[in-house]
Amino acid sequence: MRNFLSRALAVCSLLGACHAVQAEPQALASVYTVQAPQGQWVVRALTHATHCPGIAWDGQPPVAMHLRAAQGTVAVRRDAAQADSKPAIFDVTSCEATWPAHAQSARIEGQAVPAPPKQIERILIVADTGCRLKASENAFQACNDADQWPFAQIAQSAARLQPDLVVHIGDVHYRESPCPAGNTGCAQATWGYGWDAWRDDFFKPAAPLLARAPWLFVRGNHESCFRAGQGWFRFLDALPWTDQRNCNTPDNDADGDFSEPFAAMISDSAQFIVFDSSKSSGKAYAPTDPAFLKYQKQLQAAAELTTHKAQNFFINHHPLLAAAPSKDPHHFKAGGSAGLQSVFETLEPDRLFPPGVTVAMHGHVHVFEAISFQSNHPVSLVMGNSGSLNEGQAPHVIKPTDRIYKNAVVSNYAARSEYGFATLDRSVKAGQASWLLTEYTPQGQPVIRCHVQNGKSDCQ
Ligand SMILES: [Fe+2]
Repeated sequence: MRNFLSRALAVCSLLGACHAVQAEPQALASVYTVQAPQGQWVVRALTHATHCPGIAWDGQPPVAMHLRAAQGTVAVRRDAAQADSKPAIFDVTSCEATWPAHAQSARIEGQAVPAPPKQIERILIVADTGCRLKASENAFQACNDADQWPFAQIAQSAARLQPDLVVHIGDVHYRESPCPAGNTGCAQATWGYGWDAWRDDFFKPAAPLLARAPWLFVRGNHESCFRAGQGWFRFLDALPWTDQRNCNTPDNDADGDFSEPFAAMISDSAQFIVFDSSKSSGKAYAPTDPAFLKYQKQLQAAAELTTHKAQNFFINHHPLLAAAPSKDPHHFKAGGSAGLQSVFETLEPDRLFPPGVTVAMHGHVHVFEAISFQSNHPVSLVMGNSGSLNEGQAPHVIKPTDRIYKNAVVSNYAARSEYGFATLDRSVKAGQASWLLTEYTPQGQPVIRCHVQNGKSDCQ
């Protein structure tokens, strides 16, 4: 039971006026830092209190954090993804504060907050992390078994590697349906789109990694509005929570399901281009489809963003250039999103991605793949193996005659079908930046290493 013994804290507004608020020592549920557009970093605090806590910058008296989203219960949407959906209870208040450029450190109720990195040398990557409980597919992962749902182990191992930034490439929330009676693997598992399922699927297992470094979140199809979109906007989305961008009603999905692309800084010469493909179809779009027109416009905006830096890491949940997993690893089948391909090829008929994109990074497919091309396509990295139920094996080999997409010809390929996570380590020699991509087991053993430079990768 939570301890509701309160103590008074002086919290000051930005104008210097201070007032006493009642702090509940065990009310704080999570504290973390999110990378946002235009060089901004946003501290988030989730609290069971109804008011926001104070944040103390550089040991100064705390100032009140801003309310992002108040506690509340959101009714089941008329288009809810699962027939057994229930109202989403958000019994935590979402609070935030933008990190001031001059600040070196921050604390919330005594708890240290991860500071923005001065330089990003090591990026830690996870995707597809949650425990799948989905009645419509009769898929129930053993959330209670650390071997069958290893995300907590992955977060612990990853935190030991001391990354400067953690990137989650989407599909954070998987607990959509109740565990069937008699299934001991997931017995007692929380479910639905409210805070308790978000806590157990992400915030609790990710705690060591949330405490270690700031995160960049990329939205997956599980976070689209008719699924876990409400929690996405309350907790993880980098932009402001508004009446339109919260997924509470399908009436606003034209805004809620299509976040504008943005750039996030890596270094003086490199940046991420973050693209929200959460609602994209796996089938090619008709050119008159409103989603096609929306994505096409957003891709044009993303292309414009790429012109600002020499190296662009295009990052969205659904891969465009990938091999599909299957039961037979000797069998090759292309696995890129036909929906996104049909949009991207209108702008870049040959390479799909804008010219400044050297690396494309994705999740969604629950394997690790690093694919380099003889043709002019960017390196394609698929990293969707960080905890959610395995869906088959990646092909052992991709031959030059195996066409991933039209004229794309593979020159170097590495894959792994077991659970894991990855790092990208930056190094600069003679003014040239390159990256070492390493794939790890959940226990933190490195198993694949790839040299990534100038739009090509070479895996050993
Ligand atoms: Fe996905």
